[in-house]
Amino acid sequence: MADASQTPHLFTPLALREVTLRNRIVISPMCQYSAHDGLANDWHLCHLGSFAKGGAGLVFAEATAVVPEGRITHGDTGIWSDAHADAFRPIARFIRQMGAAPGIQLAHAGRRASMQRPWYGNGPLAETDRARGEVAWPIVGPTAEPFSEGWLPPTALSEAAIGALVEAFAVAARRSLAAGFEVAEIHGAHGYLIHSFLSPISNRRNDGYGGELAGRMRLALEVARGVRTVWPASQPLFFRISSVDGMAGGWSIEDSVVLAKALKELGVDVIDCSSGGHDPRGATNSNTGRGPGFQVPYAAKVRSEAGIATQAVGLILDGPQAEAILAEGAADLIAIGREALNDPYWPLRAAQALGFDPEYALWPEQYAWWLSRRAKALARLPGRS
Ligand SMILES: Cc1cc2nc3c(=O)[nH]c(=O)nc-3n(C[C@H](O)[C@H](O)[C@H](O)COP(=O)(O)O)c2cc1C
Repeated sequence: MADASQTPHLFTPLALREVTLRNRIVISPMCQYSAHDGLANDWHLCHLGSFAKGGAGLVFAEATAVVPEGRITHGDTGIWSDAHADAFRPIARFIRQMGAAPGIQLAHAGRRASMQRPWYGNGPLAETDRARGEVAWPIVGPTAEPFSEGWLPPTALSEAAIGALVEAFAVAARRSLAAGFEVAEIHGAHGYLIHSFLSPISNRRNDGYGGELAGRMRLALEVARGVRTVWPASQPLFFRISSVDGMAGGWSIEDSVVLAKALKELGVDVIDCSSGGHDPRGATNSNTGRGPGFQVPYAAKVRSEAGIATQAVGLILDGPQAEAILAEGAADLIAIGREALNDPYWPLRAAQALGFDPEYALWPEQYAWWLSRRAKALARLPGRS
């Protein structure tokens, strides 16, 4: 049995409203580009289910579009109809059965919508994609300025169209609840719709949704308010930000602190501190210096200056590193992405690396009995004790 008196920070449960996470490990939302017509399928069940089985406290489903035009690619999941909620229901149920909380990231890709799946090029849809039947669709943004040269030009959203999208986020949240999700996250990062309104690099509007910080934050706050209204008071709401643009004249960490304070006022519980997204060279954070834990300082600053719980993410590689981040008070939660792809059992292995679970007590009972005996048998082998 795990010894509760020596529980590492990483394995200390966290109560957020009336949802208690069994530990501090979160599987970061990760698009799989594997849905058809936005419907989650068996791939998503196995993909997300393996993380719940692997011991995470909270498992986020990928960026899920609130309207069809808000998908990044033809393979993105969506939640714009009841059939989409039905497709997610067995996935959320299995995650709960495995002892994790199921979460969903609600998203709109804005002017970065309608692009290629990464493995087909990660750029604007091209002739080769059209040959597969993947044609571009009309996209929207803060202005008619494209993401970058050669990308589809968006239509600038009218105030009425913005209102409709705010409503679409709320309706999507209601459907997410019906699907059985316990945590919702609003995707406000990575150059997608909400971030493109926040950042002065992409928002050059001169109406009430642009200009100074307050105008640029308006869409983010309206979406948060709309979602919070339908999302039960008993359940937590996360908001993912790009803490910095990492580009001259862009969104700053000071802006993030102001936004986090306003989101807290609206009932957001956790700020998920990512970064980047406006650099047309591609990868989400390619414009910020990258090394292990490179975004942790953002989570630390937002946590201490806005007085709100934060989630650290980005090249958090192993249990001891994650434990140190929590121990120094830089964040409340640790999100992992690619490490979980590399090893869905990352949380259970982290427990062992921290000496917390030598008997495999945290593993699913179907595996634990065998693995604990195997460990003892191996230890008895000559030269292994
Ligand atoms: C395959 C893949 C898909 C991703 N999809 C999303 C997504 O849907 N929403 C999002 O906010 N971030 C997405 N990201 C970013 C991750 O959530 C995470 O922030 C990033 O990978 C850094 O964490 P890591 O170093 O642990 O991988 C994705 C990353 C990967 C590798």
